[in-house]
Formats: sequence, C-alpha cells, structure tokens
Amino acid sequence: MKRNGISIQIYEDKEQASVAVAQRMGELIKAKQALGKKAVLGLATGATPIGVYEELIRLHREEGLSFQNVITFNLDEYYPMQPASDQSYVAFMQQQLFAHIDIPAENINIPDGTLGQEVVDTYCEAYEQKIANAGGLDIQLLGIGRTGHVGFNEPGSTADSLTRLVTLNEVTRQDAASAFDGLENVPTQAITMGVGTIAKAKNIILMAWGEKKAEIVKKALEGEITTEVPATFLQKLEGVEFILDKEAAGRIDG
Ligand code: GLP
Repeated sequence: MKRNGISIQIYEDKEQASVAVAQRMGELIKAKQALGKKAVLGLATGATPIGVYEELIRLHREEGLSFQNVITFNLDEYYPMQPASDQSYVAFMQQQLFAHIDIPAENINIPDGTLGQEVVDTYCEAYEQKIANAGGLDIQLLGIGRTGHVGFNEPGSTADSLTRLVTLNEVTRQDAASAFDGLENVPTQAITMGVGTIAKAKNIILMAWGEKKAEIVKKALEGEITTEVPATFLQKLEGVEFILDKEAAGRIDG
C-alpha cells in the first residue's frame, strides 16, 4: 500500500516486522561485502528499534553475519550527556547492539554530548561531512515521537535542517522522564541529525508499534506537510517506507 509517496507495510506484530527490517539490513551488509564496500547505516534509539537490534545480533551469532564492513551514524544524543551515563544513547547502543557484534569501534558514530557549547556547531558540521565522506547513508532507521519528531527534530524543524543543537519539546521530555527518574533530570537539549540529513539517506525506514503511535502515524502519512509535524516531510521523498504493526496502522484511512 502507498500513501502520499510512502510505501506502507503492515505486520501482524512488531516481532515479525522487526525481523523483516533486520533481514533487509543483513542483505544490504552482505551485498556490500560482496562488492568489497562498506554499508553505511543510520541508527535510532528508543524502544522501537530494539527488536531489530536483537535480530541483527541473532544473525551475527547464529548465521555468521559480520559487521566488519559496517559504518554507523546514530541520529541523536542528549546534550549535555556523558557517554558513561545510563541514559546516554552511547550506553543504549552498546547494550542493545554494539557490544554483541563485531563492528570495529572506530566505525561507530554517535553525536558527542560532552562538548562545550562553543565547539558544537563545528562538531555538527563535521558530523555531516563524515556521513558524506562515508558515501552517505544507505539505510536510515527511524522511530517517531508523539510530537511527530524524527531523531530529535521537534515541531518547528525545517526540511533543510542539518545536524545541530536543538531544544527538546516538553512532550518529548515528559516521555523521557521515567528513564531519567523525573522530568527535572531530563536534559533540555540534544544534538540531532536534521530533517535534511535524514532526507539524503538512500532508504528511510520508519517503524512504529502499538496503538499509542496510531494517531501520529496517521498524521505523518496523511496530514499536510508542515514543520509542526516534522515526519510529514517524509512525504516529499523517494524511498521512504513505513513498517507498522496492526495497532500503529489502525487509524490510516482504509
Ligand atoms: C526519542 C528518540 C527518537 C525516537 C523517539 C521514539 O525521542 N530521540 O529517535 O524515535 O524517542 O521513541 P520510542 O521508540 O521509545 O517510542
């Protein structure tokens, strides 16, 4: 099924959907290996991609999938944030994926939450350049926040925005409050790839599971394109897929 240029695949449950996404990534990695090339993956955090990472780990352990030729760029990181902190996306990615596969440490890129304000802009430009130098993102995984954010591109983010320091929306901070043991501990800022950074990926896979995401998924697919719902910009791009479970797809017009 297609809606406003976006192809939509609906699965019985998130487990089957996650396996399908991971297997696609595995195929890409193997195809690149066969050509002696690197696969460049844009990765996301949050609860949504965990099943994908589990399946990638299984493919590595049980089917010998190697990540030696993989370069990763994560979408975002809180700011300020120490990598050793439990809530950092560095810790999340280590626990959920990197510690369990054979990716070379130097191939992993996650925005640095430890930098001083005065060097953040230069760092963000270098992050963009590093993605370009790697040949661009072959696949970008996305979740979607309740505000319609992708990465941490909150309402107000423009289509041409690049990697930068942003202020988090209150809804997003509330959603993170339990992980931080209270709203007052949630950082107010983050470094995120921009909408324009994401748009350059050759394939974009947005995943959403559960009834809680049904309304924002509908808006992202069917709503008018507006900076108020940054995910609506995906309607303008080629090669975008929404991978949904039945519940998240529940409000899409039949
Ligand atoms: C955070 C992340 C996003 C993610 C979103 C949804 O805000 N920065 O990249 O997509 O949460 O999270 P979840 O997958 O837990 O619903």
